[in-house]
Order: sequence, then structure tokens, then C-alpha cells
Amino acid sequence: MTIKIAIANDHGGLELKQFLKAELIENGFEVLDLGCNSTESVAYPDYGYAIAKAIKNGEAEKGVAICGSGIGISMAANRAPHIRAALIHDALGARLCREHNDANVICFGGRMIGDELARDCLRVFLETRYEGGRHDLRVGKLSTPDFSDNQ
Ligand code: RB5
Repeated sequence: MTIKIAIANDHGGLELKQFLKAELIENGFEVLDLGCNSTESVAYPDYGYAIAKAIKNGEAEKGVAICGSGIGISMAANRAPHIRAALIHDALGARLCREHNDANVICFGGRMIGDELARDCLRVFLETRYEGGRHDLRVGKLSTPDFSDNQ
């Protein structure tokens, strides 16, 4: 079965998005490109929310979110309870965010990381399975935050 990947970026992530999108297609993934597709300045939250929506609607299983630093778009995506977005800079992080955190969105800083490293991180992210077990309770809590005094 083809895995569907949503990819979204602001103007700071456009170049890396184009590179990673081509890699994904070449490797047989179905890519849902949610923009942006120009260098005109846009607001990164719109693109983080677009990924969250696509995953919620079942249009994509996982997402790749890119802005200049990766910080803003990861913050935006993580505001959705069903999203576990991880800002990744190395292959170890790409592996652990899947094994321990069941991350469903990988985020990059287009101005921070090189193409080759991002490609390697993305490959590891997509190939690594969530370990479950002792992580289930913790990961479950990410989707059901409780800010009451009972905690
Ligand atoms: C845009 O200039 C920049 O602020 C944005 O891409 C991102 O780095 C925000 O976190």
C-alpha cells in the first residue's frame, strides 16, 4: 500500500521542500503538497495547521513540515492534539521520535539543515516503527493534556 505523506512549508522552507518532495516521489510515496510554492512571505502557522488537518481527515498518514528554523511550524502543528511533531536535526532524533514518541510529523529548519542530512533523517523517520509498550501511556497523555489541579 502506498503511504501518503503531506508536506507543507513557509517561504523559508520552500527549497528544502522541493528537494524532499522529489525524493519522496522517487521513492514511491504519494505526496500531498499543501504549499506554499513561492518565496513570497507567508505565515508558518497556516502550513502547520494544514498538515494537522490533512492527517486528521485521513488524507495523509504522516507529515513533513518545514519553515526557516523549523521552530514555528512545529509549534503550530503541535497545537493539534492528534499531532506529535518533532523538530529534527540528526538521524538519532529521527529514530527516537518514532520509537519513543510515535511522531507523525517531522519538522525541519530549511535554513538550518542541509539537503543530504534532511533526506537521511526523513528516510529514518519513515522506516522506523513506534515501539509501543512502556511508551503508550506517555504518548497517550500528549493527546489528552490535563491542566487541572488533579495532576
Ligand atoms: C520566516 O522568516 C521565519 O520566521 C520562519 O520561517 C520560521 O523560522 C519561524 O519559526
